[in-house]
Amino acid sequence: MSMLPPLPFRLFANPRAGTPGTVVLTEAGYRRARAEITTWPGYEPTPLLDLPWVAEAAGVAAVAMKDEGGRFGLGSFKALGGAYAVAQVLIGYLSRRGLENAATSADLTSGRYGEATRQVTVTCATDGNHGRSVAWGAKRFGCRCVIYVHETVSQGRVDAIARYGAQVRRVPGTYDDAVRAAADEAAANGWFVVSDTSWPGYTSVPVDVMQGYRLMADEATAQWAGADPTHVFIQGGVGGVAAAVSVQMRARYRPAPALVVVEPDRAACLLASAETGAPTAIPGDLDTLMAGLACGEPSLLAWQELERATAVFMAVPDEAAVACMRLLAVHGAVIGESGVAGLAGLLLAAAGPAPREALGLTADSRVLLFGTEGATDPVLYQNLVRGAVA
Ligand SMILES: Cc1ncc(COP(=O)(O)O)c(C=O)c1O
Repeated sequence: MSMLPPLPFRLFANPRAGTPGTVVLTEAGYRRARAEITTWPGYEPTPLLDLPWVAEAAGVAAVAMKDEGGRFGLGSFKALGGAYAVAQVLIGYLSRRGLENAATSADLTSGRYGEATRQVTVTCATDGNHGRSVAWGAKRFGCRCVIYVHETVSQGRVDAIARYGAQVRRVPGTYDDAVRAAADEAAANGWFVVSDTSWPGYTSVPVDVMQGYRLMADEATAQWAGADPTHVFIQGGVGGVAAAVSVQMRARYRPAPALVVVEPDRAACLLASAETGAPTAIPGDLDTLMAGLACGEPSLLAWQELERATAVFMAVPDEAAVACMRLLAVHGAVIGESGVAGLAGLLLAAAGPAPREALGLTADSRVLLFGTEGATDPVLYQNLVRGAVA
């Protein structure tokens, strides 16, 4: 019996699925990221929740979900990426200024280079979580920070960023417009863009962001018990976290589990890219409740991994996300609206013979999901789960 009402969804089996030809994230780069992040005060692996009730409903053998709600007190896996990239920007700055060739994030937190790093301003666009990570990193590692948000980013999320001392600027349009505003202001003022998305000529910072994200997937594989997972469902915004998870799965498992990338149906730029066979921007106002996934343009680097590593792309409606938040809440797990698309994809696909077949889901499948955020906007979370907004 399905746990979700029969909501419409899209599914696109990737005709180019295979082994990616481009190495987007090196193993050495990941080892460095892991070594740094695991020494930060407050680091501990987030839990992997066993969800036997989902496995039963989906007609598979096992389902587990990583719960990122407790990550560094920031509420999402994004704490791993932006903040790590801020540290790398500052380490590079110190090295170019001839002040220290091999500084670590611990050197930065000690304040030893504070006089120099306070000259640096980092900036980015965000729909909430990435900006919170960059602002937190800037505070921790000692530099200035200006964050761009678009019209519909909730005030709760803006306040959470400002709490770390960042200046928050609101701009008209969508997330993609805010990305451009941050890049333009950075060019005009000599600031460093710490973006979670990449474009031609701008790739090294997003590589660091994605290397940080890999730690979430690495923890999950270490916590996973029993036979290897057969499927991994991960939500897609610009595709950065999906690509990071994909790379980590390929590094850890042979064969790699089937990767299913799930987006909101109103912001499915990765699915559109798969359909056209090239990175594709989608038009419209990207009006989805899943704010962290409201991205209309894929990250170039992420696409280079995902275009061949992804088995199936899916797009799901907001109603499915809200239903999944409620299901998880009933079972004691607090996962926010951008953190449940993977679960929604699994439950919707598992309910019909054709999508089960397209995904290769059977009674023996073992599925890994990522609850990529907790209640990052607590008021919105309560409203959605209690049904005040639907
Ligand atoms: C909670 C959550 N999950 C997933 C994503 C998607 O990450 P990406 O944009 O790297 O695809 C985001 C992005 O902001 C997010 O906040």
